[in-house]
Formats: sequence, C-alpha cells, structure tokens
Amino acid sequence: MEKSELLDKLKQECLNCNKCELGKTRINLVFSDGNPDSAKYILVGEAPGANEDLTGIPFVGRAGRLLNEFLEKSGISREKDLYIINTVKCRPPQNRVPKDSEKNACRAYIEEQINIVNPKVIILCGSTALNSFYPVKTPISKIRGEWLKINIKGREYNSMPIFHPSYLLRNHSTEEGKPRWLMLKDLEKIKSV
Ligand code: URA
Repeated sequence: MEKSELLDKLKQECLNCNKCELGKTRINLVFSDGNPDSAKYILVGEAPGANEDLTGIPFVGRAGRLLNEFLEKSGISREKDLYIINTVKCRPPQNRVPKDSEKNACRAYIEEQINIVNPKVIILCGSTALNSFYPVKTPISKIRGEWLKINIKGREYNSMPIFHPSYLLRNHSTEEGKPRWLMLKDLEKIKSV
C-alpha cells in the first residue's frame, strides 16, 4: 500500500478514536500536514491550539507562522521536506498542556505515522514533545541542538530537540547565542544531514 493510503486508513481510526476525553471537545482532528512521500523530517509539536482546531492543520496560528519563517530561512520546505504532527491529535481545552494519559492514548498513532513516513530525522519541537520521547529532567535550553537516538517499532531514528516557536514569540533578540539565533543554527544542522 502507498504511504498516503496507509495514512488515510490511520486517520479514519483517529477520527473514530475515543481513548481519551479530548475528542469530545475538539472541532477538528489535527492529523498532520506535509507530504509523506517527500518528507525528510517529521516535526513533533505539542498539541493543536484554537487555529489548528478550527482548520484541522497543525501550526497555522502565530507560532506556526513564526515556525514557517524559520523554516524558510534555514532552507527547509514545509510543503516538501516536512511532515508535521503533535503529541496529541485533538486540542486540549484552554490550550493546557496535554496530560500523560492523553499523550499515551495517542502514542500508537504517532508511532505508526513515524513508521509509515520513515523520516531521516525526528524533530522534537519544545519540551512536551521532547519529554514524550525522553522523560529527562534536562531543560530544553540545555539539550536542544543535540543529536539523540529514538527507537520506534524496532527502527532507530536520529532526532533533535529544538525550541518551540511559542517560546521564540516571547524572545525577540536575534543576537548570536540567543534562542532565535540558536533555533536557526539547529534547523541548519538538521538541513545539512
Ligand atoms: N503549537 C503546537 O505545538 N502545535 C500546533 O499544532 C500549534 C501550536
């Protein structure tokens, strides 16, 4: 079966999912964005927000627009190179951080998407995504930019934690060594793989 067929089947399963409560309050399921056939990288974000819930597309609000700017600057094409998902597929009420039980309920879908797309790199965007794969105490500011290994369904992937764009919305400086500067360096490192 083609990747898109396998993913369509999985999406149908997600549409019927009632493993946690988030499906009851969402407007739309936020399954993914990007081209699974050409994507070299999977980016895992935290959770859909209001704009994502309205459109069914991840990273389309303010944080998404800032992410797009960084992708463009680093030469990564959102449409061609990236497949975007979140740790959960439905918006948590009031944009709260998803609970462990909610992330665990969604985990099999996330792993299956990664398995189908089979990317070169898994980008862990922000501490929620980082901690759902690495339950470490190390803050994202200390571990971002490092290459880590992730094993999913018996396959080993290279992964890199990066800052979440919401954090960069509160940190404007582009000076060397500041979060926005580091974000660009990290994306350039990923792009050079
Ligand atoms: N923030 C995320 O982590 N994911 C989205 O899809 C939107 C905002």
